[in-house]
Parts: sequence; structure tokens; C-alpha cells
Amino acid sequence: MRYYRKLRFGVPSQRRSWPVCTVIPILLGVVAILGVTIGLLVHFLAVGKIYHYQGDFLISGVTYNDSCENAPSQISTDLSKDIETKMLDRFQNSSIYKEYINSQVIKLLPHPNGSSVQLQLTFKFPPAKRGIMKTEIKAVLLQMLKDNTVSWNAVPSSIKLMEISKANAEMLTNKCCGRQLFNSIRAGNRIVNGKNAQMGAWPWQASMQWQGKHHCGASLISSRWLLSAAHCFANKTNSEDWTVNFGTVVNKPYMTGKVQNIISHENFSSPGVHDDIALVQLAKEVSFSKYIRRICLPDAKMKLSENDSVVVTGWGALYMNGPLPSVLQEAFVKIIGNEVCNAPNALSGLVTDNMLCAGFMSGNADACQNDSGGPLVYPDSRKIWHLVGIVSWGDGCAKKNKPGVYTRVTAYRDWITSKTGL
Ligand code: ARG
Repeated sequence: MRYYRKLRFGVPSQRRSWPVCTVIPILLGVVAILGVTIGLLVHFLAVGKIYHYQGDFLISGVTYNDSCENAPSQISTDLSKDIETKMLDRFQNSSIYKEYINSQVIKLLPHPNGSSVQLQLTFKFPPAKRGIMKTEIKAVLLQMLKDNTVSWNAVPSSIKLMEISKANAEMLTNKCCGRQLFNSIRAGNRIVNGKNAQMGAWPWQASMQWQGKHHCGASLISSRWLLSAAHCFANKTNSEDWTVNFGTVVNKPYMTGKVQNIISHENFSSPGVHDDIALVQLAKEVSFSKYIRRICLPDAKMKLSENDSVVVTGWGALYMNGPLPSVLQEAFVKIIGNEVCNAPNALSGLVTDNMLCAGFMSGNADACQNDSGGPLVYPDSRKIWHLVGIVSWGDGCAKKNKPGVYTRVTAYRDWITSKTGL
């Protein structure tokens, strides 16, 4: 009896003496496991991740051909725009509107029975929803096609949807012309009166560097060719003196390339303002990325209208005789008709049909010294950008009644083809 009691008392007294150094690690372990489990659950069920999809469907009977590497025809643009508008509307009014980020038409390609339409879509949702989301996205697309069978000749049953990696999603757009990495935020006008460009906003912009120093701008029009101004290369004709920098910070290039050949327009004579256009051939093809892409060349028949919004970009002076910026500048300017631009108090007849004016009669924003050769770009209805002008000349910078003058790219469309095949 005594012995038994002793034993009973012995057990609790032994428990009480468990060393603290054993209990704390066990407690910590339990807390850690709980924490990780909750973390994983939250991650899986609540934290959104970005998912990319490629969609495809068929259009019967009509042949479209827009590989997205060149400017789309008006007819391709109209169809793509209509699909994009309806797609946006469908997703924004669907049960998955919170998960929707964006969607676009990438290509319209010829197909034995008509055309195939390639879509790219982006959504954000927690991994646990992956299965259900794919079903729902496909259902929204299917319904959209069913409702547009007549207007587009769409074949609803042909819809295919596939999840793709981020790298593949980027690759789809990198080869396309005129696509920004994201839409640049329209802000103040301060180039003169521009503002800093965001990385990837103008991925076709290049800095033409002569003996290692920024001299002019240029625009990438294919993996091998850039378009610039002829006056940039007057007395600087040796290709070996030139390098091409890409990126937004002029002296910290994202990529740099050697020049193989410079072709200035045969009718340009220095110092002059006529036929101020030059092609620069790179020694090696560039590989397109989210920060280096080509700009679309406009169709020779493309017409711009007075007051159209366009953008000029460059690392030129911030004002006449002012300092050069290190971050690429962008300025939103307006097309000014040649007649207005040639008025006696303006540029009094110096602007030919092969040139175009852009800026403001009030001054405000303009290109300036060392912006030459750089792009003046115009967004089509889908915000795909086209190269409409090359910075060429001006009377001072951003002066009242003295808008910037640009080489009119449409006037040289055939010349570009004759030299490059583009
Ligand atoms: N010719 C100048 C250059 O070599 C560009 C002048 C553009 N001027 C203007 N006001 N838009 O960089």
C-alpha cells in the first residue's frame, strides 16, 4: 500500500520536473507546423497568382492575315478591335470579373477553312481555383462566339483554351510590332516639357551613339533594321564609330549592338532638311524581349488628321541649349496640318508634303537637339503604335508658332521597302 502510493506520487513529481529546454522546442515546433499549414492554406486558397492563357478559334470563309509582326490591315484591325471590345465587355460582366486582368487578339492567320484567331488572356486568382477558372473562362468565350456567329463567321465549337507560362505569354507579344510593355500613364507635358518614360513603354526607341556618346535617336523596325534621320550621319559615315543602345537609361543600356551599314537617303544633302531619313543595319539580329520590340511601319496610304494625338520620345535636350536627360523622355503632342504649319507667322512655307508638323502652336511640348532620328508614334484604335514621323528639324524648341518638323514616314514607305524588303 505504501509502496503503491509512493509510486503514484512518483509519476506526477517526475512530470513536473520535465526540463524547460525540452518543452519550449516542442511548443515552438507545434507553432511552426501550424503556421506553415495556415500559410499554405492561405496561399492556396486566398492569395492570387497571375495565370496566362492562349485561346484559339476559327472563322469560316474569310481569310485574314495578321501575323502581328507588321502593321495590321484596316480590315484586320477592325475585326480584332471588335473581338477585343466584346471580350472585355463579356469578362467585365461575368461572374469572374474580379479575376480578369486583360485579353487581346494576338494574330489572325489564314487557315484551310478560313482564318484562325489567336487570343491571349490574363487572370489573377488563388491556385485552388485553377480548374474552375479554366472552365469558366472557356464558357465565357464560347458564349461570346455563339452570340457573334453571324457577325464574325465564328465557329463556336472550335474554341480552344490552354494555360501557358509567363515566358510563353511574353514571347507571343515580343515578336509583335508596336506593343508597349504596359500602357504608359498619360501625365504632364515636360524632350521639352516631357516626362520620364517607364521601362518598356517605348521598346523600339534606340540611342545612336557616336564614339560612345548619345548623338541621335532611332527606331527599331525589324530584328536587323532601325530608322533614323540622315542628318545624324552627315560627316559621321563610318559604321564602326556607331553603336546602338536600347533601354530607358541612356548610359545604362539594357542591350547594345554594333552597326554594319548606314544607308542615308540618296537625295539628302548636308546641311539640309529634305529627305532626312536613314536606315541603320545592325551587325547582328536583336532578340526581342519585353524591353526591346519593333515599331509598326504605317501603310503608305495611312492618313493622319489635324489634332491627332501622337507621342515623341528621346534623350534630347530638355530645352534649347539645355542639358540632356539620362532617362528617356516622352511628350504627348498633336498633329498640326501642313497648311497651319506653313502660315507666314509659323514656318512660312518651309514644310513640304514629305514632312509633317507636330506639337502645339502655343509652344508647350516639343522635341529638341539630339532627339533627331527618334520616333513620333501614333496609336491605332487598339493602342498598337505606328511610326509616323522621324524627328528632323525645328526653329528652336517648343517656341510659340514653331512646332517640331518630322520626316513623314508614309512618304518614304516604298523607299524603306526598296532598301530592306520590309
Ligand atoms: N535637328 C535636331 C537634332 O539634330 C532636332 C531638332 C528638332 N527640333 C524641334 N524643335 N522639334 O537633334
